[in-house]
Amino acid sequence: SDRYCVIGNPIAHSKSPQIHAAYALQTGQDLAYERCLAPLDGFEATVRRLVAEGYRGANVTLPFKLDAARLATRLAPRAQAAGAVNTLIFDHGEIVGDNTDGPGLVADIVRNAGVPLAGKRILLLGAGGAARGALLPLLTENPRQIVIANRTLATAERLAADFAAHADRLTVSGFADVEGGFDVVINATSASLAADIPPVPSSVFGPGVLALDMMYGKEPTVFMDFAASHGASVRDGLGMLVEQAAEAFLLWRGVRPDTGEVLATMRQAG
Ligand code: ATR
Repeated sequence: SDRYCVIGNPIAHSKSPQIHAAYALQTGQDLAYERCLAPLDGFEATVRRLVAEGYRGANVTLPFKLDAARLATRLAPRAQAAGAVNTLIFDHGEIVGDNTDGPGLVADIVRNAGVPLAGKRILLLGAGGAARGALLPLLTENPRQIVIANRTLATAERLAADFAAHADRLTVSGFADVEGGFDVVINATSASLAADIPPVPSSVFGPGVLALDMMYGKEPTVFMDFAASHGASVRDGLGMLVEQAAEAFLLWRGVRPDTGEVLATMRQAG
């Protein structure tokens, strides 16, 4: 069977093998998918070994998404825009880099949460790699406006400058200066890892607002608790994880698995 893996460090807790095994079963695809721990200074050597061993592709997770973009011999436009790669396709000597994180986020919001983004106002918290990866896929949905708010304003300004072609729909802000009236608020900061919340006014949350944290864990994040306590509907990043995997599976196998059942199973497993 065709072999794939997810490369990261650490990697022991990755849910990707479970997700891809379920997709393979569901679609009747004959493939094997495992975890691959790469040394922090050994990402490239690891990829070369996988290629030599005949692997067909790999997912890439922390901390190697930038290394993967550098290593790829060809980049999909959305990976180019993201500046990062989470999916590699090994294709007759080529190492093609793509990024399905942003499309996974959009699929989770639009399909799973049932919130179309066309004409909507989106607040994107953060301006690091996760926010950058989300920007082009979000813009592709034709929202009315995206406000990028970040702790370090200059980083948000640099990010917006890289998407100057969309300047009419992009605004930059500090957390405290954000003004309400959003349909969707996306936490793309890593603040939740430190049980921290980007200090935006609580008025940005309220009934009718979808607040999504890209992070996930056994318990809701502090961001989700805060948003929910002010009336917002909340989602964690598990749906995004399942959807980015489905998009990667599509790239490799030409068929997009149905994600609903897998997401429900993972949700139950906790
Ligand atoms: P990632 O790949 O997860 O996006 P990153 O590129 O290091 O990681 O970016 C981290 C993001 O989380 C940045 O936007 C960072 O803000 P700064 O640009 O000001 O550093 C944000 N961030 C990290 N910790 C945070 C915290 N405790 N509160 C608010 N924002 C935080």
